[in-house]
Amino acid sequence: MGPAVKFASRKRHLIAGNWKMNGLLEDVGQFTDALNDNPAPDHMEVALMPPFTLLYCMAEPLRQKDVRLGAQSVYFEKSGAFTGSISAMMLRDVGCHYVILGHSERRDIIGESNNMVHAKLDAAWNAGLEPILCIGEHLQERENSKTNSVLAEQLSVLEAASVDVPLTVAYEPVWAIGTGLTATPEQVTTTHAFIHGELARMGHDCRVLYGGSVKPENAASLMACPGVEGALVGGASLQAESFNKIIQAAASVAAGE
Ligand code: PGA
Repeated sequence: MGPAVKFASRKRHLIAGNWKMNGLLEDVGQFTDALNDNPAPDHMEVALMPPFTLLYCMAEPLRQKDVRLGAQSVYFEKSGAFTGSISAMMLRDVGCHYVILGHSERRDIIGESNNMVHAKLDAAWNAGLEPILCIGEHLQERENSKTNSVLAEQLSVLEAASVDVPLTVAYEPVWAIGTGLTATPEQVTTTHAFIHGELARMGHDCRVLYGGSVKPENAASLMACPGVEGALVGGASLQAESFNKIIQAAASVAAGE
């Protein structure tokens, strides 16, 4: 028997590029000139999350290509003596629509806890940002059959959230990020069904993206998995050529071609 959740194909899919700690001012012109317009705007959105330093100068060229701007993190306080931090209102001010929260690199390297992710979600919503909440298991957790309990714990930050808030979830198995490994279509389908089920239990009906070594070669097959409504792309979003190809592949799937 298939999963007892309805996949919402009416949602516009999202292809989002996460540049991580990459990109200088000198790279911006070449990238934005080479970036194609969204080939299927009725079915799909495109977004880019450059580093903080490039947000302001990329806002306008991306807007001209109908590409939404996002940030890779935010601090949960509104303003004040928090040296080195950026608030959600500052991100809105510079033109961001999205903010990535709970990325495994922030959880694992910076030590960001679920409690902190929870506080950041509230800060993002209060400022009118749409969070892209990243969740994912480590390889050992998958091998020990802990995937679902890890994901449920990470999703529990949504338990008390209003069901009307703007929200996208990204499933990114940690072992597939930057490694060239991708989850198999079966693993992706099963895991997305579990995530959609957990979200539905909490009353949320949001998009769930897949992330982890998404490339032009595998984008179409990953996007065709039931319950996958877009991708969060790291390394392959740094070059306009490969990002264009992923967008094109995902657009064909989203448009049902
Ligand atoms: P990757 O990164 O595509 O380079 O694996 C994905 C991500 O971390 O969002």
